[in-house]
Amino acid sequence: MDTQAAHYAGRLWLQTDAAFGVREVPLVLPKPAAPVPNKNIARKEQIAAPAARGAPRPAAYVPRTPKMDDRLPREVPSPGAARTGSPTANRQGVDIPRPVKLPPIPDGHLEALAPINDADKPRLLAELQQETATALEPYISDIATQVVFGSGNPAAKLMFIGEGPGVEEDKTGVPFVGRSGQLLDKMIVAMGLSRQTVYIGNVVKLRAADPDPDSGRLRDRPPTPAEVALNIPWLHKQIEIIRPQVIVTLGAPALKYLTGTAEGISRLRGTWMTYRGVPLMPTYHPSFLLRAYTPENRAKVWGDLQQVMTKLGLKPTTQK
Ligand code: URA
Repeated sequence: MDTQAAHYAGRLWLQTDAAFGVREVPLVLPKPAAPVPNKNIARKEQIAAPAARGAPRPAAYVPRTPKMDDRLPREVPSPGAARTGSPTANRQGVDIPRPVKLPPIPDGHLEALAPINDADKPRLLAELQQETATALEPYISDIATQVVFGSGNPAAKLMFIGEGPGVEEDKTGVPFVGRSGQLLDKMIVAMGLSRQTVYIGNVVKLRAADPDPDSGRLRDRPPTPAEVALNIPWLHKQIEIIRPQVIVTLGAPALKYLTGTAEGISRLRGTWMTYRGVPLMPTYHPSFLLRAYTPENRAKVWGDLQQVMTKLGLKPTTQK
């Protein structure tokens, strides 16, 4: 099967009821073919990435707007605070990497906060969404065209937290609607739940992507610490309102930024941790699963989700 046919077969399979291992279909999606060289760009330029940030780039690399980081202040404001500061550059005009101070994970258990009625949560979340949109508005660009706040049940017992929106999420304003979102949906359904009963959010609420040096196409990338510092206070507030009984972090950045751990995801997945007193289960990101869709990885993720079901008092099933 050629690469394209394999991708198509994989896609088809992921759209069937058998997805997420209700039946065993071992499938490893092959790596996409190497990018086709752009004939309009000199060969040298295609190989050599721009030497330094701020150096002139060939036309095909030029982002339509500056990266979010290039506009980030030195000190990242907390929600509600005014934005201050400006990017700095040395005499050659090259940006100096700025020290980024990640805001600490707020102190105190969620249980110790003043109680919130479930009935008030939709309004409180809607107000927070509005505040978040206003605060992040200066960072809206051609790449991140809108804030992707989160979606689901404001009083959910279970909250999934991923890394950040990709192209599809940026288009729709809804988290996890692309390929990895389709797999996440199937994982949720396999747990006997639905997207409407859980809440889905992300560490960052703006798409992070850079132009590919070869093709000039935008490629999603993990958020930088500066981007996380700017966005994560809004996630902390979101969790304070939802107050889930269990959090599932999807992938390394969500695990790292919600627990402060320096350990890797492969080591920690499947082991209970806590976020402000809330049990937190780290598991692989669905996009990793899509890249490495082996029976072993599926079994690991399914095992993690079964632990979550047990914690929530749901009956574990034999699906995997
Ligand atoms: N990946 C994420 O981490 N979040 C999304 O919303 C989509 C893809």
